[in-house]
Amino acid sequence: MSKPRILTGDTPTSTGLHLGHYVGSLENRLKLQSEYDCYFLVANVHAFTTLADKPEQIRANTIGIVKDWLAVGLDPEASTFVLQSEIPAIAELTFLFAMLIPFNKVMRNPTLKTEIETKGLGETYPFGFPMYAVGQCADILTFRPDLVPVGEDQEAHIEMCRDVALKFNQMYCGVGNRVPADEHAKAGGLFPVPKAKIGRIARLVGLDGVNKMSKSLGNAIFLYDTAKDVQKKINKITTGRQSPTDPGDANNVLMQYVDAFITRDRADELKSRYAAGDNLGDGHVKQELGEAINLLLEPMRVRRAQLDGDKGDALVTDVIRRGIKKANVVAEETLLLAKRAMKLEFGARVIG
Ligand code: TRP
Repeated sequence: MSKPRILTGDTPTSTGLHLGHYVGSLENRLKLQSEYDCYFLVANVHAFTTLADKPEQIRANTIGIVKDWLAVGLDPEASTFVLQSEIPAIAELTFLFAMLIPFNKVMRNPTLKTEIETKGLGETYPFGFPMYAVGQCADILTFRPDLVPVGEDQEAHIEMCRDVALKFNQMYCGVGNRVPADEHAKAGGLFPVPKAKIGRIARLVGLDGVNKMSKSLGNAIFLYDTAKDVQKKINKITTGRQSPTDPGDANNVLMQYVDAFITRDRADELKSRYAAGDNLGDGHVKQELGEAINLLLEPMRVRRAQLDGDKGDALVTDVIRRGIKKANVVAEETLLLAKRAMKLEFGARVIG
């Protein structure tokens, strides 16, 4: 039996993944990478939808993301690292899939709408911006995965991808309208209908206690912040609580982090004492939390420091090249099968 497949990815609009990425998706990737055949994609073409005038930055971020992955512990031997711009099948399937999604549905996609707002894209964003949602369907389906580990903010995209898979299978592979999504592959559909796998913490709140953790909002703890900076950032969290004997809010930002980063039993104990005002000060909680987060991050910092040395960039380039080769084998196979289903096949081609 071959292993079930995973595909997921990150867009190199910035480098420096943070704790929100970690609990939303990276943690799942680490946990699943031995049981699944994993494809991790750097969506560098998508980065051009908002940074078309900054190619150097996109290139540097691309290398930075791969370093982040390696430092976190994603393993390019066990998994396949995919550089989107070097996989022609993704671009070709994007165009073909664009025919299977109503234009109005793309424009109603809530993830796109939120991004247009939070990134301040106004009315003048390029055509390619909403198009990236169709591109994401192709990123995923090119590798015919079963699961897509993502943060909650990506759910709308995965839903659209499922729609495309269903429609393709029905339109071109003869799968009946009543066949349930789970059984499409068995019923002759080319694309298994993939499921989103949301992280342990669907939405990690930022240090401000209000918004989602995000680099652009300046409320993030990065995986490579120094131990000192991590503790400093945590010490600055404000809860409004005055004394260790005040009954605290067990859902405030501090307690959400306790839930996310301190082991279960201890977290429960801290939360119930905090809520009861059982002589537990914010300062004590912050200290313990900082230590727990630093314990998690320390091995990543060490690996990242090694990759930032002289040989790091060359190693990353090598990892990327090997990934492209492996990825194109699967991608070309999918494209050929898709073209065959669409009566578009007039002789195979080979891409090196
Ligand atoms: N849009 C995703 C993000 O911004 C990144 C991404 C691109 C992705 N292609 C993907 C995620 C395919 C999952 C599957 O986080």
